[in-house]
Amino acid sequence: MRHDRHRSGLARSFGLAVAALVFGWVPARAQTAAEIDAALKAAFTKYQTLQEGKNADYIPALAKVDPKLFGIALVSADGKAHTAGDVTTEVSIQSISKVFTMARVIQDQGPDAILKTIGVDATGMRFNSIVSVELSYKLAGGPEMNPLVNPGAITATSMVQGATADAVWAKILGTHNDCAGRELKVLQDVYKSESDTNQRNQAIGMLMYAYEYIKANPLQAVDLYTRQCSIGVNAKDLAMMAATLAFGGKNPGTGKQVFDAANVPRILAVMATAGLYDDSGKWLYATGLPAKSGVGGGIIAVSPGKFGIAVVSPPLDDAGNSVRAQKAITDISNALGGNPYASKSK
Ligand code: DON
Repeated sequence: MRHDRHRSGLARSFGLAVAALVFGWVPARAQTAAEIDAALKAAFTKYQTLQEGKNADYIPALAKVDPKLFGIALVSADGKAHTAGDVTTEVSIQSISKVFTMARVIQDQGPDAILKTIGVDATGMRFNSIVSVELSYKLAGGPEMNPLVNPGAITATSMVQGATADAVWAKILGTHNDCAGRELKVLQDVYKSESDTNQRNQAIGMLMYAYEYIKANPLQAVDLYTRQCSIGVNAKDLAMMAATLAFGGKNPGTGKQVFDAANVPRILAVMATAGLYDDSGKWLYATGLPAKSGVGGGIIAVSPGKFGIAVVSPPLDDAGNSVRAQKAITDISNALGGNPYASKSK
């Protein structure tokens, strides 16, 4: 038995050597801690003084966050966080929460729940577009949205099961906690600020109710959605959440299986399609990484089986995505061979 294993190991090594010689193929290998730290440090140094972009201000509390805040964290298979910059200051998670609420619904109700109710297609419009709801309903004749734009996200929140609003909230927050590996809290100033100014989301919730995507209590769904967007996270939390998706739904820090491994490719597919809104195609072209941005300045990205990465930096571009986060993640992922579409990884 031992002998056979030894022989098959030799045969495998021989096969790999032949493949390398004949096809110029380079086997993927895990990066060393020093290589990861060097990639993070290089990106941090390069982009620390970059002045492009502007904090979101349609939610007044977001305009007050320090635009200089810049933190990078990467979690690899061993569950350890590599960091650069400020990875302890919390920002509101905003739209990144949409991924985890969608994942909760898929996990509890199966893959068709989101597919058949909301859809998994890019809208090609802004994240809070009302026209996208009208076009999807009138022209497509079926669900042709996704749970990462506001109409789909508010609907996904309405689908989380629970006897009371508190029970639903406990499930939503619990899912975020399990992925971050610690107990997160709502940033009350952001929650209040967004609740006072979210009339457009209330209108979207009512429209989704009128078209029967949302079955009951549309304004409760909008309130819970606003709360989930106000959860406070730092770059390290976000990287652990991304890493939970990078490693088959299992948090590599705590070892907890949060989502079934079979559901993770579905979650990542929606992130790849719509994670950076109108710029999702450009992002995928540059990195190949499923990702999600939030107007609080965070972006998470997932290199399946390799790492979860997150950057927090509030100034955004016109599409609503953090400028420094996009640049830093692109550089780091390229340095570490993170693109899952690349056959030749470092
Ligand atoms: O509903 C909103 O407008 C915010 N709570 C979330 C939007 C968001 O993060 C879009 N992200 N890029």
